[in-house]
Amino acid sequence: MSSNARHVPVMLQRCLDMLAPALTEPGAVVVDCTLGAGGHSEALLKAFPEARLVALDRDPTALKLAGERLAPFGERATLVRAVYHELPEVLERLGIPRVQGVLFDLGVSSMQLDEADRGFAYAQDAPLDMRMDQTTGISAAEVLNTYPPGELVRILRAYGEEKQAKRIVSAVVREREKEPFSNSARLVELIRDALPQAAKRTGGNPAKRTFQALRIEVNAELASVEAAIPAAVASLAVGGRIAVLSYQSLEDRIVKGVFAAGAATTAPPGLPVVPERYQPRLKLLTRGAELPTEEEIAENRRAAPARLRGAERIREDIP
Ligand SMILES: C[S@@+](CC[C@H](N)C(=O)[O-])C[C@H]1O[C@@H](n2cnc3c(N)ncnc32)[C@H](O)[C@@H]1O
Repeated sequence: MSSNARHVPVMLQRCLDMLAPALTEPGAVVVDCTLGAGGHSEALLKAFPEARLVALDRDPTALKLAGERLAPFGERATLVRAVYHELPEVLERLGIPRVQGVLFDLGVSSMQLDEADRGFAYAQDAPLDMRMDQTTGISAAEVLNTYPPGELVRILRAYGEEKQAKRIVSAVVREREKEPFSNSARLVELIRDALPQAAKRTGGNPAKRTFQALRIEVNAELASVEAAIPAAVASLAVGGRIAVLSYQSLEDRIVKGVFAAGAATTAPPGLPVVPERYQPRLKLLTRGAELPTEEEIAENRRAAPARLRGAERIREDIP
């Protein structure tokens, strides 16, 4: 299988359709905040020949590979190494005041999962790293070996929705005193041993939730999403559209909250006529979240948890 075939972009046609009305004018700018292997970006460049693409990723490997893939598009594609909540600074540096489209395909990439030595996957033994940008920050092993037990419990509960957090953390603390954690297999085994039989029978691999929690902590993912979605909405021109693919409920909740707030009036209750400055500045493009079809999931298991939400900017902010 070629590397591109393994990284099939999730809900691709839906994302393109959702952004399409905003991207037909010459000079339209679309930002892919999560370039990854460049699947969505390449499709955007092909589908909207008049548009220019700005694509961000924090992972230098992704930028290198996607850069090769998008080279044929020349100056229509500008790739930037950045964390997505830095979008306003990136656009300012590029001299782009407003954009017509924004896409987020959140979470970890198939490429990162497939690179065994980066430690994202619980199915393979590897150093417990999990940093999307290995040049900065602390690894999952450091989190596991140094965080106070209460903090680890909080992370496993909040970011992994792990009901057995206390049990797992007790085992981690006992084991790390004997020898610090360095590899994923030892953690997977410890989780398997720590959980009661009943907990092991539900929800797939018992290490899945702990790995998700560590990854979110190591990359400060939720804080980045919380800052990035409002920043992206603010960067949209009137008529501009944003589409966001999330893969777990915590991210999806943030996206839902930002869109719902933008689509609501901010008027004090009881006004007979809502003045312009209190009118919603977003129109929702999805009712609830859209899910991938059964056919897509059958072809690409990694699409299964995806949730797509979209919105259109319909009004300027009036101070
Ligand atoms: C699911 S993948 C994107 C896949 C891409 N849509 C494609 O078709 O190939 C998510 C990408 O977002 C990047 N990423 C995750 N969090 C980020 C953040 N806070 N800032 C910038 N990039 C981030 C990851 O490094 C990863 O490459």
